[in-house]
Amino acid sequence: MAQNLLDKAACITDLKIRARARIPKFAFEYLTGGCNQEITLRHNRQALDKVYLEPKYLSTSQGASLNTQIFEREYSAPFGIAPLGLSGLIWPKASEFHARAARSANIPYVLSTLSSTSIEQAAECAGDTLWFQLYPPSDLDIRADLISRVQAVGCQHLVVTIDVPAAGRRPKDIRNGLTVPPKIGANSIAQSIIRPSWSLATMRHGLPEFASMMPYMKNMKNMQDVANYIRTSLKDVVDLPMLQQLREQWPHKLIVKGVISVADAQLALQAGADGIIVSNHGGRQLDACRASISVLPEIVDAVGDKMVVMVDSGVESGPDIARFLAQGAQMVFSGRAFMYAVGAFSEPGAEHCIDLLRNELLQVLEQLRCPTPRQLSEYRA
Ligand SMILES: Cc1cc2nc3c(=O)[nH]c(=O)nc-3n(C[C@H](O)[C@H](O)[C@H](O)COP(=O)(O)O)c2cc1C
Repeated sequence: MAQNLLDKAACITDLKIRARARIPKFAFEYLTGGCNQEITLRHNRQALDKVYLEPKYLSTSQGASLNTQIFEREYSAPFGIAPLGLSGLIWPKASEFHARAARSANIPYVLSTLSSTSIEQAAECAGDTLWFQLYPPSDLDIRADLISRVQAVGCQHLVVTIDVPAAGRRPKDIRNGLTVPPKIGANSIAQSIIRPSWSLATMRHGLPEFASMMPYMKNMKNMQDVANYIRTSLKDVVDLPMLQQLREQWPHKLIVKGVISVADAQLALQAGADGIIVSNHGGRQLDACRASISVLPEIVDAVGDKMVVMVDSGVESGPDIARFLAQGAQMVFSGRAFMYAVGAFSEPGAEHCIDLLRNELLQVLEQLRCPTPRQLSEYRA
C-alpha cells in the first residue's frame, strides 16, 4: 500500500472528503445523490449498521485469506467495482483507472453501458477481470452488435440491470441541470473553475461521452442530441421475456442486477440467469425500497444454492463488506467508494481504494478469527 496515500486517506470517508474538494459540485452531487428524499440511501447505511458480527477469540485458526472463487474463477478478494455510468463526468478516464486497478488486484470490474470508456478500451485495461453491464438497446440490430462486441473482447460475464424501468428522480441532478437534455449553465461553469484539477483533466481528455454507444450515434450535433439519443435508444424495460431473449443470445455467465425481492430472484433463476446482484442501485431509483442487506438473507435462502448471489448498495468500509458476506453474499460490489478514490487521487486512487478495502476486510476476518470470506456466515451475531 502506498504510504503517502495512506497518510492522506486512511479510510473511504477520507477519500470522500478529498474528492469533494476536487470535483465540481454538480458532478459530486451526481455521484453522491440518491433519489427523492434520499431515504433509501440513508436506509442502506442504517441497515448495515445494525448487522453485528461475533468473534470466536478462543478458536484456533491459521490466519485468513481473501481468495474467492465464483463462476469457476479465482479472484483475490470477495469484492469488485460496480458499473458507473457517465463516469467521465465525475473524473476523466475514471473507468480506465478502475479497470487497470481491478486487473492488477485480480478483482471483478463491471463496465457500464453508459461508461465514458468503450468496451474495447476497457478490455485492454481490465483483461479477464472485465464484466459488462448491459442496458439493452431497443434496436435489435444494435443490441446484437453490442453483445457481440462484448463477446469479441473475451468478456465472460454479462450483467443485465433490471432496476431502471424509469429514470431515477434525483433532486440534486434536477437542480444542477443534469437532466435530459442537459442544461449546463453559468453555475456549472463557475463550479468547474474552482476545481482546477478536474477542469484541466477534462480539457485534456475532452467532455465525457457514452463511448460504447458512439458507433451507433449518427449526426449528433451537440450534447442534447446525444442525451436524447441515449434516452430513446435505451428506453426498453427489462422484463422476463426480454431476460429470456438475452439468455438465448448470451452463451456465457448471465447476471441480473437490481434484484431486491425474492420474487424477482426466482424469476431471474427461472430465466436461466447464473447469478444475481441484490441491489437498490445505491438508493438512486426507488425511495421506498428495502435495503439490500435486509433483503439479502431471504434471497440467499430462496435461491442461494442454485445461483451465485452477489450484492451492492452502501459499502463504505471493509466491515461493510464483511456484513454483506456474513449475510450470505458471495461477492460484494461497491460503486461510489471507487469514484471517491479517483476523485481524490486520480489513477493511484483506484488502487488505493482496493488496498484500503482489502486491508480493512482482512483485519475483520483476522479479528473474528475467520479463515475465509465464505465462512463469515458462521460469525453472524
Ligand atoms: C454515479 C453512479 C452511476 C451509476 N451508473 C450505473 C449504471 O450505469 N448501471 C448500473 O447498473 N448501475 C449504475 N449505478 C449503480 C451502481 O452500479 C451500484 O449499484 C451502486 O453504486 C451501489 O451503491 P454504492 O454506491 O453505495 O456502492 C450507478 C451508481 C452511481 C453512484
